Amino acid sequence: MDIQNVGIIGTGAMGLGIAQVCAHNGFPVTAVKATPGSWERAKTTVEKSFGRIVERGKMTADERDAAMSRITFSTDEHAVACCDLIVESVIEDIDTKKDLFRRLESICRPDALLTTNTSTLSVTAMMAVCKHRGRVAGLHFFNPAPVMKLVEIIHGFETSDETLSDLDAFCKKIGKDPVIVQDTTGFIVNRLLTPYMLNAIRMLERGTGTIESIDHAMRSGAAHPMGPFELADYIGLDVVEAMATNIFHDVRHEHHAPPHTLTRLVQLGYLGRKTGKGFYDYAQKPAVQNPALLRPVV
Ligand code: 3HC
Repeated sequence: MDIQNVGIIGTGAMGLGIAQVCAHNGFPVTAVKATPGSWERAKTTVEKSFGRIVERGKMTADERDAAMSRITFSTDEHAVACCDLIVESVIEDIDTKKDLFRRLESICRPDALLTTNTSTLSVTAMMAVCKHRGRVAGLHFFNPAPVMKLVEIIHGFETSDETLSDLDAFCKKIGKDPVIVQDTTGFIVNRLLTPYMLNAIRMLERGTGTIESIDHAMRSGAAHPMGPFELADYIGLDVVEAMATNIFHDVRHEHHAPPHTLTRLVQLGYLGRKTGKGFYDYAQKPAVQNPALLRPVV
């Protein structure tokens, strides 16, 4: 199938980032808010993001207006009925996602491609609730979606070759650099990145270094754009904890279990940049270590 238009379910950071990329690259997009409330805020978020690109001189105001006009916002899932490709980016909860796939099967055409942006959940488990399974796959974007080139195309157990090649062609049309990955928990990137962040947290708990010194070392010594704590705060500590838990439940090795400090920060509602505090306190400029972590934690 030559994908002509895209439906996105979920208007969080990832859903909106994906909507932005698709619209920027000429695709009409229908973005559906999955939780109660109006879509106005979602629209403002995308407008601001395009605005920053215009300010940096990477896009003209006319191009921004044209891209914005390609996005239709809605609160009704039925708005994606005519879309060729659906990308779901709702909460990381397998039952919520399975229910959504069941509904999408009755809303969408039988040949529409149904994909999930899940970070660690089983694409095959979502496929299992569908009748037309060959068109179900994972389409895993990275944060920030407008910037990160990689998309993991996840090959569920019954994803058809045609679906994989249609998704590969689509990703290239939106300027991405896709890779096909088998459906294993965490796929490639999160399966490597999650234990890396967990190890950094354990290193902090052992007293090997401070948050700042470990981040500094990985930026300067391994050429990472962000250190592990900056990255965890950027991704969201609730998301990091959920990824660790999903991988741990799969492999049953304590190496993958969420460390004490991560769990405590999540319990306190310190989820990273989105709440203003995580490993760092972003109320300070530049950000400083979260004072809750100044005492020994283990
Ligand atoms: N939307 C659009 N463009 C954005 C953007 C956004 N949200 N954020 C940054 N940009 C653009 C800027 O406009 C700028 O573009 P330009 O070079 O063309 O002018 C470029 O990105 C660089 O941005 P900045 O100069 O503001 O800042 P940095 O150079 O520090 O880059 C960063 C910011 C791209 C976030 C960089 O720090 C980075 O790459 N960090 C690592 C991110 C990462 O590893 N992501 C993967 C996380 S894992 C994941 O997502 C999986 C999921 O399942 C959890």
